[in-house]
Amino acid sequence: MAVDRARADVNPVFNDNKIKLGVFHINGEGAAKTRVPERFHLTWDNSLDAAIAADAAGFEAIVPFSRWTTEVDPGHLSGTSYESLTWAAGIGAQTRHSGVMSTCHVMHMHPVFAAKAIATIDHICNGRFALNVVCGWVPGDMEMFGHTDLGVAGRYAYADEWITILKRLWSEDDEFDFDGRYLNISRGYSMPHPIQRPYPALMNAGGSDEGQNFVGRHCDIAFIRTETREWMRNRAASYRKFVADTFGRQIQIWIQAYVVQRDSYAEAVKYVDRYAVDEADRAHVDAIMRRRNRPLSAEENIIYRRNLGAGPGGLPLLGSAEDIAREMIELSGLGIDGFLMSWVDYRDGVRRFGREVIPLLEQAGYRKPFRPQAAGAVAVGSR
Ligand SMILES: Cc1cc2nc3c(=O)[nH]c(=O)nc-3n(C[C@H](O)[C@H](O)[C@H](O)COP(=O)(O)O)c2cc1C
Repeated sequence: MAVDRARADVNPVFNDNKIKLGVFHINGEGAAKTRVPERFHLTWDNSLDAAIAADAAGFEAIVPFSRWTTEVDPGHLSGTSYESLTWAAGIGAQTRHSGVMSTCHVMHMHPVFAAKAIATIDHICNGRFALNVVCGWVPGDMEMFGHTDLGVAGRYAYADEWITILKRLWSEDDEFDFDGRYLNISRGYSMPHPIQRPYPALMNAGGSDEGQNFVGRHCDIAFIRTETREWMRNRAASYRKFVADTFGRQIQIWIQAYVVQRDSYAEAVKYVDRYAVDEADRAHVDAIMRRRNRPLSAEENIIYRRNLGAGPGGLPLLGSAEDIAREMIELSGLGIDGFLMSWVDYRDGVRRFGREVIPLLEQAGYRKPFRPQAAGAVAVGSR
């Protein structure tokens, strides 16, 4: 019988580090939309290697994305990714310290299945699992599953029912019925429950008011968009206040970033110009730019295209270890708790970041030195 553990004691996403670290998008191709040969190629070995590097460096989170169709044409690398629950089970079995996440689209996964799959992964990884709940909008995915887009209010109403069912399946011992507008469950029951009590960490990246309400009711971590510093400072503060005032809860605020670490800032910028602009996968960047729902100025257009070529989104963390650590500390001062990061080449990038940037964050007091034994995993054999 598994030991029940308070999630704050076992899941590193709840640790005290002021700057938390995550690695993103290692379950698929196309984080950086580039043709350079050194870019990440999806194989299980490469994905696991990046996860193990993050785990060994003491990252709080290893996070997949969720995508089912191609963003360009059949055969394009944007359509190649591992399913995120299956992937997390494998990653969870081979890591010891980091939080292991899945990104699940609520309409693409029945809640009874999701609850049991997640409980299983939480046992595999000794209570380190976290769920990124996506209420998405990707038209090709919705069509392929035969779903009609419910609009933003409908999506989050659906998600509310979905996560309410998961929480009940994860915590109730008796059978229950659930009669919702979208979901009906008859004699709902799921055992074993997850190791984490009351249930695994939850995160959401919704940008709408409905997304914000969903986070307030259910989640521990909110991703916010990366915009100007002033926008992010205001957004982080108002988000926290809204959740505290309305729901009496505390949340963490995370952002996305792509990292290019070189000996100097100029060298890093030069490399971004090469891989994300000169060698950009233009078809992929064009496909994503077409989805933008507001016109961009010429200057914005250049910046957006460059950032899209460089990573799955977010802001640049460029330069030497000192440059990157300084930038992260400044962003932390805006109210950012965590960074979900991507690299062109995770194999070298995550390790170099671990060797050179993390010690600077530790020296500055933003992270405690990583001590593997105390990192939140229940030792195998203690269950
Ligand atoms: C860091 C981050 C990761 C995301 N990952 C995914 C994903 O893997 N799959 C997906 O369909 N949507 C993903 N999204 C989109 C969000 O879930 C959300 O739908 C989007 O931010 C729009 O917000 P809204 O749903 O409130 O309109 C992600 C967004 C962010 C900021």
